[in-house]
Amino acid sequence: MNAFLKLPDLDNHGFDPFEVERLLHGAHEDPYPLIHEPAAKGPIHKLSYRMLYTELPDVLSDKENYLVLGYDACQEVLANPHLFANGGAFQYTIGRSFGHTLSVMDAPEHPKYRKIFQKAFLPQVVSKWGESVVEPVINDLIGAFSGRGEADLIEEFTHHYPFQVIYRQLRLQPEQAPIFHRLAIAQLLGSIGAPEGPEASKKLGAFFEALIEARRADPEDDLVSHLATVEADGGRLPNDVLISFLRQLMNAGGDTTYRGTSVLLTGLLTHPDQFAAVAADRSLAPQAIDEALRWEGPVTSTWRYVSEDAEVAGTRIAKGAILNVVLGSANRDPAKFENPDAFNIFRERSIRHLAFASGPHVCIGQHLARVEMTRALNGLIDRLPNLRLHGSKPGPDIRGHQLRVPKHLFVEFDAAGSP
Ligand code: HEM
Repeated sequence: MNAFLKLPDLDNHGFDPFEVERLLHGAHEDPYPLIHEPAAKGPIHKLSYRMLYTELPDVLSDKENYLVLGYDACQEVLANPHLFANGGAFQYTIGRSFGHTLSVMDAPEHPKYRKIFQKAFLPQVVSKWGESVVEPVINDLIGAFSGRGEADLIEEFTHHYPFQVIYRQLRLQPEQAPIFHRLAIAQLLGSIGAPEGPEASKKLGAFFEALIEARRADPEDDLVSHLATVEADGGRLPNDVLISFLRQLMNAGGDTTYRGTSVLLTGLLTHPDQFAAVAADRSLAPQAIDEALRWEGPVTSTWRYVSEDAEVAGTRIAKGAILNVVLGSANRDPAKFENPDAFNIFRERSIRHLAFASGPHVCIGQHLARVEMTRALNGLIDRLPNLRLHGSKPGPDIRGHQLRVPKHLFVEFDAAGSP
């Protein structure tokens, strides 16, 4: 069916959205010392998160920005959506790229639509996808290099599998997938004024509109059919909300999971004793995943708009300011996590990390992300015996200040079929 739906590429075929995206996220080796330093002085600072790392302005730079640091202050903001709203912040960023998504909504609209989306992401629904969608993607990708004895797990595995899970959910034809990926990344570049941003959003929007129409007429057992027909309290998702959600999916669901899985593998393979423990006892996988998300959560900061004069951690902040809620600083708060910069899957786990944020906008895809990461980890351990860092290639190097990931993860293993 999708073969007949048009998905035109960007007009400028020479434009490389991936390269521009890499520039946007920076190449910072370790952003944490620059967070720890102000955090030690107090939780609120009149500064934007971005300005800690780069002088390049963005669409929020002309507003009054405050850094919110440390676990308690971040929690305080995320738990008060009435005072600290999404719409006033995300309409300039995510809203421009994706349109009317959950991330730009506030109450009463947000809970109304979130309830409907939630039905598609219940743990029991999502775990079925683990078997039917995630597992085949993982097996195909690993099968392509398992006989070779070495691989780059970023280039050959993590940078593909969450996106391929989405392609299968959308029933994209293989020839459409690379164009879809380019458009999905290009959408984000509207926030820095690249004309390819709005062009990509428009092309994806037209594609999704046709896809939704086709699925409503002839529903299948896939995510789009499900979302196009799901109801809660007698209400359905309007087309603009559904299209915006689908536009956001590659970024919110694909990009984050690619980065999360990459740092999970980096954490474990650079700590071989911890990797060996997980390989020997798979019941440790959930705590390894949580530790990776705490240690190097893919989303280091989020934003909220101060909708009326308010106090945050005892500091008065006037209506109209933008709060940069630094999730990375909450997750490395020494008052909550002992030796917070260390990767330690055996650490005391009584406090929940904020890698998925918290409050009413807490990640709706977190069960799916966990299912995907667990399957990826188990698949690699099962299929690549004696998996370890490559002995003669450079080790992984996690980079970026906003969205973090290593560019390569070179590994060696006993090749399938070798003695
Ligand atoms: C390791 C993987 C992931 C991480 C670290 C992550 C992180 C986050 C964070 C931090 C937020 C909240 C942002 C805020 O409140 O400002 C969020 C929201 C969201 N996430 Fe995820 N996410 C991941 C995977 C996924 C997946 C797999 C999906 C979908 C299939 C998804 C869909 C969404 C959506 C739609 C929202 C907006 C929810 C709302 O505003 O009500 N995410 N995610």
